[in-house]
Amino acid sequence: MLRGRVFSGARPTGKQHLGNYLGAIQNYVALQADYQCIYCVVDLHALTTLADTGQLRENTKEMVLDWLAAGIDPEKSIVFVQSHVPQVAELHVLLSMVTPMGWLTRLPTFKEKVRQQPDNVNYGLLGYPVLQTADIALYKADTVPVGEDQLPHLEFAREIVRRFNYYFEPVLVERQAKLTQVPRVMGIDGVNKMSKSLNNHIEISASPEEIKRLVMKMVTDPQRRYRTDPGRPEVCNVYSLHKIYTADRLEEIGQRCRAAQIGCVEDKHIFAKRLIDALAPFRERRAAFAARPGYVEEVLEDSARRARAIAQETLGQVKEAMKLV
Ligand code: TRP
Repeated sequence: MLRGRVFSGARPTGKQHLGNYLGAIQNYVALQADYQCIYCVVDLHALTTLADTGQLRENTKEMVLDWLAAGIDPEKSIVFVQSHVPQVAELHVLLSMVTPMGWLTRLPTFKEKVRQQPDNVNYGLLGYPVLQTADIALYKADTVPVGEDQLPHLEFAREIVRRFNYYFEPVLVERQAKLTQVPRVMGIDGVNKMSKSLNNHIEISASPEEIKRLVMKMVTDPQRRYRTDPGRPEVCNVYSLHKIYTADRLEEIGQRCRAAQIGCVEDKHIFAKRLIDALAPFRERRAAFAARPGYVEEVLEDSARRARAIAQETLGQVKEAMKLV
């Protein structure tokens, strides 16, 4: 018996990295056991910040390949591209009628974008959270797993749905809060969150050689200069990942690091080997999917068809509630 419907969206950022995997994808996969899941590549949202759309198709395909290889099952779940279901744009317009301007301009996420791209403060950027609300409302999701940075948007979505239901008829679903416990995965620089734009990331589809090369570059305890210095696992980025990939030797590695019996290089060799082995089945599945011509396109098409059916029904109810003819 499924507990409800999950919806989550992610921008098409191309090949996914360890931070994406541990922070979101792993959770997407697990939720499939208990929920009907809908996972969306939000290409329309991506347009609000993209000056150049040249990478959009490639990035979408690479991301979806990663999702499928990680275990998102298109037989169970819907994995689709936002723009393939144009009903979301229509709902966006309808919801904009119950959206106070002030709410949009006051959102911290909007203000941050204005700071980041002062030369491209487009209308889409302002309407970003309305579009996100349309995503959630269109598919009647009651559970939306997101990281902490998205909480203002989810709160906003709840308020808009509430207003709609109050002004018209209660046809839309108010989603439940579900903050996913997202481990903060640091980049190989050891100071910033892992992120593609900072180029401090390790792609989950990377080859063993590439993984090794990047792991060897990881910043560990900055105070540990010499092999004979005692290390401090609690501030070491490699150690924090050992917690996930080398859990069975955690105690031992921590002690040997503190006692300077093990150096950072050896420690990284241990971690690199574990990570390479852990990702091996993923790499194999990904290669197999990538070798099937048209596979990703087929999955996206079939999913879009199923998504459109849900979308059409909700949109019909919304128009009826608003007394559109
Ligand atoms: N804004 C989200 C992000 O940047 C992506 C997103 C779009 C989303 N629509 C959504 C997330 C609906 C959850 C539900 O991460």
